[in-house]
Amino acid sequence: MERKILVIGSGGREHAIAHAFHKSPNVKQVYVLPGNPGMEDVANCVSIDPLDFETIIEFCIKEQIDLVFVGPELPLSKGISDILKHNNILVFGPFQKAAQLEASKSFAKDLMADYNIPTAKYKTVFKRIEALQYLSSHPAPIVIKADGLMAGKGVTVAMDDIQAREAIDSIYSDESIQAPCVIEEYLEGEEFSLMCLVHEDQIIPLPIARDHKRAFDQDEGPNTGGMGAFCPHPLIPQSLVDEAMTKIVKPIINALRLEGIPYTGVLYAGLMATNEGVKTIEFNVRFGDPETEVILPRLITPLDEILFKLMKHEAVNIEIDSRACLGVVLASRGYPGKTEMYGPIHHLDQVDSTIYHMGTSKQDNDYINQGGRVLCVTALADTLDEAKAKVYHDLKKIDAKQCFYRNDIGQNKITLEV
Ligand code: AMP
Ligand code: GLY
Repeated sequence: MERKILVIGSGGREHAIAHAFHKSPNVKQVYVLPGNPGMEDVANCVSIDPLDFETIIEFCIKEQIDLVFVGPELPLSKGISDILKHNNILVFGPFQKAAQLEASKSFAKDLMADYNIPTAKYKTVFKRIEALQYLSSHPAPIVIKADGLMAGKGVTVAMDDIQAREAIDSIYSDESIQAPCVIEEYLEGEEFSLMCLVHEDQIIPLPIARDHKRAFDQDEGPNTGGMGAFCPHPLIPQSLVDEAMTKIVKPIINALRLEGIPYTGVLYAGLMATNEGVKTIEFNVRFGDPETEVILPRLITPLDEILFKLMKHEAVNIEIDSRACLGVVLASRGYPGKTEMYGPIHHLDQVDSTIYHMGTSKQDNDYINQGGRVLCVTALADTLDEAKAKVYHDLKKIDAKQCFYRNDIGQNKITLEV
């Protein structure tokens, strides 16, 4: 078998996905569209806009692509899977209707409420006055979530009423604005990410990971897309993963099916292990970033083999490397706000860790940062502590003056104190 795979997207997640396909003996060629210069070790980058569906279809037909794997949420929410399927191109990614699960917090919350899927208590409000009224009867700690795709940055976990009011003011900058916003109960506990490969009624869970969402050490600062991750997650026993599969993942896939929306693609459940059991924080309709960069390196079974079997309704067994994987994100200074850009990054060739490029470009022979998250530096080792030591050792060698990283990814103190 000599498969040709097209991955849509351009970040570290897509670099890790392309890497997983590249190492499969069945895959002849991996293309990433548009990709970034750091992934040219594993894929051919194709400069087409991920939202230019007509040109993508022409490319798939011309290159006889066997499978399209969609990385980010935006093309999914614009219907890329619907249009590819309509053109008889095999695609792994949910249809536009199912992508609402991520694109609209209120759609997801209402579906969970209708089907009794455990999640934080909430109210969807549309105006500033409504938001303030709800706040007066539900004081902080409280969580404010703007509706729509916000790249992990539209959520404020307000520990006091002043922060809560500021978050409401930033969504409703004047009284006339009407926009949905979810205000929900603050959940306390240990967070974990459970990603599954799904085709209709078949669901394959991958090992769970822990993301670090806050920008700075000791979980300070604003929420980001994720500043580092590790897999496995030693504080979450298998019984809680089983509970999440039974009470959350299977019921939401079933709920979508009952609403006439069959699901194919990755389902990401962001979960909290609370004193009252596992509760849903959010669903995403694609792989997490940087979770993917620490999960896929542990996958021994070729990714394409799993997906082709899954989509043919054949039984799939997946083999997972027993080693642990940890990744630390190097981000541009200022992230998740306005960032510095185009600074050189040196000495990447001196590190042993695997580097996934999240946001780099090339100037002459140098990599430069493109703003936002830049690199995810990852290592596999027998224990998480060893993986962490390898990654931090290598980060010290990288010279990227415009970038910063957290120093405490995978630190026991953080996870144990929660
Ligand atoms: P989301 O985009 O919904 O995943 O939220 C981003 C991050 O905010 C999550 O990963 C959590 O760390 C935090 N968060 C979101 N909702 C809640 C909640 N109800 N209680 C506590 N933390 C939350
Ligand atoms: N790292 C969290 C996400 O991808 O949404």
